[in-house]
Amino acid sequence: MVATDDRSDAPSFVMRRPDFDSTDHVLNEQRVFSPTAEEVANANITAYMHSKGFDNYEDFHRWSIEHFEEYWADQARELHWFKDWEQTFDWSGKPFAKWFVGGKMNIAYNCLDRHKGTPVWEQVAYHWESEDGSEKRTITYAELYQEVNRCASALKAMGIGKGDRITIYMPRVLEMAVAMLAVARIGAIHSVVFAGFASVALVDRIDDAQCKAVITCDGYVYKGKVVNLKGIVDEAVAKTPSIEHVLTLKRAGNEVAWHEGRDVWWSDAIRQQPLDVEVPAEPMDSEDLLYILYTSGSTGKPKGVVHVHGGYAVGCYATTKFVFDIKPNDVYWCTADPGWVTGHSYIIYGPLMAGATSVLYEGAMDFPDPGRWWQVVQDYKVTIIYTAPTAIRALMKQGEQWPAKYDLSSLRLLGSVGEPINPEAWLWYRRVTGDRLPIMDTWWQTETGSMMISPTIIQPLKPGSATRPLPGIDAECVTIEGKPVGRTRGGFLIIRKPWPSMMRTIYRSPERYETYWNTIADVYFAGDAAHEDADGYFWIQGRVDDVIKVSGHRLGSSEIESSLVSHPAVAEAAAIGLPDELTGEHLYVEVILKKGFTSSDELAAELKKHVRGEVGPIAVPKTIVFVDALPKTRSGKIMRRVIKAKALGQDLGDITTLEG
Ligand code: WT7
Repeated sequence: MVATDDRSDAPSFVMRRPDFDSTDHVLNEQRVFSPTAEEVANANITAYMHSKGFDNYEDFHRWSIEHFEEYWADQARELHWFKDWEQTFDWSGKPFAKWFVGGKMNIAYNCLDRHKGTPVWEQVAYHWESEDGSEKRTITYAELYQEVNRCASALKAMGIGKGDRITIYMPRVLEMAVAMLAVARIGAIHSVVFAGFASVALVDRIDDAQCKAVITCDGYVYKGKVVNLKGIVDEAVAKTPSIEHVLTLKRAGNEVAWHEGRDVWWSDAIRQQPLDVEVPAEPMDSEDLLYILYTSGSTGKPKGVVHVHGGYAVGCYATTKFVFDIKPNDVYWCTADPGWVTGHSYIIYGPLMAGATSVLYEGAMDFPDPGRWWQVVQDYKVTIIYTAPTAIRALMKQGEQWPAKYDLSSLRLLGSVGEPINPEAWLWYRRVTGDRLPIMDTWWQTETGSMMISPTIIQPLKPGSATRPLPGIDAECVTIEGKPVGRTRGGFLIIRKPWPSMMRTIYRSPERYETYWNTIADVYFAGDAAHEDADGYFWIQGRVDDVIKVSGHRLGSSEIESSLVSHPAVAEAAAIGLPDELTGEHLYVEVILKKGFTSSDELAAELKKHVRGEVGPIAVPKTIVFVDALPKTRSGKIMRRVIKAKALGQDLGDITTLEG
């Protein structure tokens, strides 16, 4: 159910109100799935809890938020610091936080060098496989260390150094991990752009961060077809004067244009570096920038979310260890793309710091058939999968015969992220993998850097609930005035206390950062509604702003609208998300044409193609409706919630603030 009342007291960002009396989940499933005694006894979190004198999560969690500095400092001490910090947390510049003040560290050092002389060093870091399975590569921590050092040395030889921003625009290949770690190692800042974005999206992101180089591929194969990535880069870089170098990995072997002096082949640049070259990891200040990752907000251009070396490392490390309960024998597979925050935190940084063995699979989940994923699980004896509800629903549609064909007995833990997981999908995910596995439904955001609300393996689970806040995280549901709504009532989901992996700012837009902490006074709010049930379990209801989630990918209405308006036929456009059984939401747009243009199916198809070419395939609207007018406030703002209510056939509520 979606609340759509348009009372004029609704804050301006609210697209929809929290579902105050949501009981959706109760309809389907009231079972509670408890961990086994063995799971609890062996859990990483149990060991830590015991070391602090606790044997139940409730008491431990209360302690962890009351003593959050001690909790986070304990986690930080497990990592390597070139120089210890002097102050764990500094909130004097509120809402701008500092963590591990005065400390020096490098996250890439913690991913690699820190494991030297331990059994992890000779262990596999990644098993990589191409879509058709014809190419496979296995790389140990020691080998990855060497590749990262050669890449770091090549980057330095190109004149790239501390503080420079580097765009990485690559598919899921091992070199993507190498590039990210090499950039971090030399103290440069990466800005990864998901390879599914197109040239205008790339231009915006390169320009905002004034990147000096792009690291990319000639092309890659997706669902059997070659995508010409270098062609998109060439188109973008023609409009971004800040780019001095384009470093290109040969992957698909497709033809590419070449710009002498600017373009360098990855293989040539790396070959010039001695096999055993070592580039010492730059000792970074805890608060020095590690990366910028662009994400969509309610309005305006994408926001460059800034994460730093120290605190971000601590958040990723602690959550990987506790939520996935990573042990030395695990084979962990996160199916996300390193182009999104899930990949940054839980394909690259978290797993490597935790010394995990990961699987990296380049292709689509259902190519050549819907058994592809399950085959990967069987082949590598995967023990932990981390994926998205949209993927689970897609596999569910294909039927249980696909997972049934494969031996999935190696699995011991499942994870979910990106959007609320409906209880049906939760139960299916569990059933087809042996009806015995715990599912970690992890709620977090690009801005939070690491998981915030999620079970650990020791908690009883309810299908569809992200359960409880993690240690150190103080979450609650409140009214827009910040008043707690209490249990069993819906409200805006907020976090009270800062945490180490929180974003530090929005790149070059500190005022946009501040809105996260002042929309609801003095607490962190980034756009979701939720409710706590009688047991204190959190049920996430979804975004209340104009952020749209299609297949777990975050899209902003404004990016899609700008792209449509840049087409010569379009005068105005409004994009919204509508509920979709498979993809969570799908894109629905209304378009006003300029004088002299008439609506037609052909024009709708052309507009879709236009958005595909500019923003990317993930942003293509499913439905385009041609209209004569858009509902607007007196001040001229498009009322997207009215469009949504109309499209859903709901009561429009009070629309007295509408024009005319
Ligand atoms: C938004 C953040 C965090 C990595 C991927 C998404 C939604 C995320 C869950 C979940 C319900 C979820 C929220 C959030 N979301 N995880 N487990 N249950 N909703 O990162 O692209 O920054 O999107 O994704 O709406 O605000 P993101």
